[in-house]
Formats: sequence, C-alpha cells, structure tokens
Amino acid sequence: MKNLINKAVKTNRLSHSEIVEILKDETCNEYLFKAADYVRKCRVGDAVHLRGLIEFTNVCGQNCLYCGIRRDNSLVERYIMTPEEIFETAKRAAGLGYKTVVLQSGETQTYSIDTLCEIIKKIKTLDIAVTLSIGEKNEDEYRALKDAGADRYLLRIETTSHKVYRELHPEMSLMKRKACLHFLKKLGYEVGTGDLIGLPHQKDEHIADDLLFFQEIDADMIGLGPFIPNSQTPLKDEIGGTFEKALKVMALARLLLPSANIPATTAMETLNPNGRLIALQSGANVVMPNVNDTTYRSKYQLYPGKICLDDGAEKCRKCIEAKILSIGRTIATTKGFRTK
Ligand code: 5AD
Ligand code: FES
Repeated sequence: MKNLINKAVKTNRLSHSEIVEILKDETCNEYLFKAADYVRKCRVGDAVHLRGLIEFTNVCGQNCLYCGIRRDNSLVERYIMTPEEIFETAKRAAGLGYKTVVLQSGETQTYSIDTLCEIIKKIKTLDIAVTLSIGEKNEDEYRALKDAGADRYLLRIETTSHKVYRELHPEMSLMKRKACLHFLKKLGYEVGTGDLIGLPHQKDEHIADDLLFFQEIDADMIGLGPFIPNSQTPLKDEIGGTFEKALKVMALARLLLPSANIPATTAMETLNPNGRLIALQSGANVVMPNVNDTTYRSKYQLYPGKICLDDGAEKCRKCIEAKILSIGRTIATTKGFRTK
C-alpha cells in the first residue's frame, strides 16, 4: 500500500483499481495524509487562501434529496439579500483582508442575470476575486457573468454514478451538469467541482470514478465533504459519511491534482471539532469562512450542526487566522489563482 502511495506522490497517477484499493485499506490512512501534506507543501506551499463566503439567498428551485434548503423543505424561512446588502457584505470582507468572495445561493431565478452582473461589477471595484456558486445556468448566462468579471465558478458534480445521481436528483441530469462544467472551462473560469462522501448506495468504485473525473476535466478547485443527513429531508434516516473517509478522498485528490486549490470544508469541521486544521494538514490549502451577518447564518443550513452560527465575520476571520498560524502555516496575501 505504501508503495502505491509513493508512486502517486511521484507520478500523480493512480488507476481506478489502485484508488479503490487505497480507499478500502484502513492500515495506511496516516501515511496517505502525510503524503498529501507533503505534495501540498511542495506544490502550493504553506500559505492558506481565505475565501469569504456570502450565502446571499436560500431560495432554491432544486430539490436535491440530501439538501436542507431544497424546494420542498417548507420549514426553512427563506431570505433574499438585496444587491446593496450583498455589496456591503463583500466590502466588509475586503476590509477584513479577504482577497476573494464566494457568492453562493440556492439555484433560483430570483435575481436576473443583469442584476447578478451589476453586483459582480460593483464587487470587482474592490479589487478582489469573485467566485460564483449559484448552480446550473446556460452557456450565454455563464458568459455574461464571466464578462461582468466573475473569476471562478464552483459546481460540485456530487457523484459521477448515474444510478446514485438519479436517485438523489430525480429532476436533474448528470449529463447536463457535466455540460455546465465544460461550458465553464471553455469560457475561461477557474472551475471547481467535488463530491459528497457517504451518499446512500455510493460505493468506493464510484468515488474512484469521481476522482478520475476531477483529473479528466483538470479541476482547478475540488471541494469534498461528508454527506450529513438533515432531519428536514427525505434522507433523514440515512447513515451519512464519516470524517475519515472524506479526509481520505481529499488526500487522494491532492495526490492526483497536485496544484489544485482544495478547501478544508465546513462539513468536515461539523463532524470533527478540529476538522479544518486536520484537513489543512492532509492536503488542503484553502478555507472558506462565512462572512454573512449572523441573522442569515442559521437559515442556510444544508446539513445540521453548521459551525459558527452565532459568530460574526470579524470573529471568524480572527479565529481561523489564529488556528492557521498555530499549525505553522501563513495566510496568503494574493488572490490565490491556481498556478500549475
Ligand atoms: N451534507 C453535506 N453537504 C451537503 N451539501 C448539500 N447538502 C448537504 C448535506 N446534507 C453540499 C453539496 C453542495 C454544497 C454547496 O453543499 O455538495 O454542492
Ligand atoms: Fe467562525 Fe472560528 S471560524 S468562530
């Protein structure tokens, strides 16, 4: 097993069956995490990129079975931030030293493309990078948003298994999602994707396919997290993913895509009080602290146990900085584009 991991450190390649073998093995996890940490250090360095996350509306027209803000969850109190509020939040983030804001929302037509373009243009005057995470759009819409100044786009594939995808997204199509990722690449965005670990009926073989898919599309960013069952969704009685497994997949992503930007995700911290720091020491080099007002945080609960619900943007910024420095890492001062 160690030989396999050593090979991946040197070549950044693993076959499907080799990935499955590593995923099934439980004896070499620590070795894998150390190897991913080594590749991270060599390829992207010690600086951690902070991206300020703005969850600007929880209105969503999609109905993904795992997600707490799905259309059919009538228990969610929906909110819509105004363009001015979104800009003010971005301005506050820039003031706190963030060099990127991530505009994330449910998938909704609430804001027209023109309105979104205006928001992006205004935020770009702050001289920070803008990442969008607003779901599936058509090619013209993605182009307009890019022309307005958006730099990056996050769209997790969630799973590349047709069977699992269909079960979780009865109204959506895996083909369409892949097409979106291809449009985004073609238009020159830095493109992020990723998957959920521990979904019902997901097998190690599927996760290996996911990892090879990230490599095939040469993902610039890879966001991975454990699936955490939400009591307000149809998947409330499922078991969910484990921290350790999500960490393994993340470490493998670092070995296969050594120069990618990989966040230590909030969902990892939900399952382990030290989750983000452990992830940063197992291949991750990005953290995405929430910069929203506390009034909105509790309304954007994709899964239970979301961290920092009562903490303001300033507190999270200071808290995460202290944590990062405590493990001997630094805070990046650049916009943090991928350098291959
Ligand atoms: N558990 C963990 N992650 C979730 N997401 C949605 N619902 C859950 C859940 N129950 C993730 C999806 C989505 C991202 C924004 O949040 O992967 O792409
Ligand atoms: Fe929010 Fe620590 S990151 S309080």
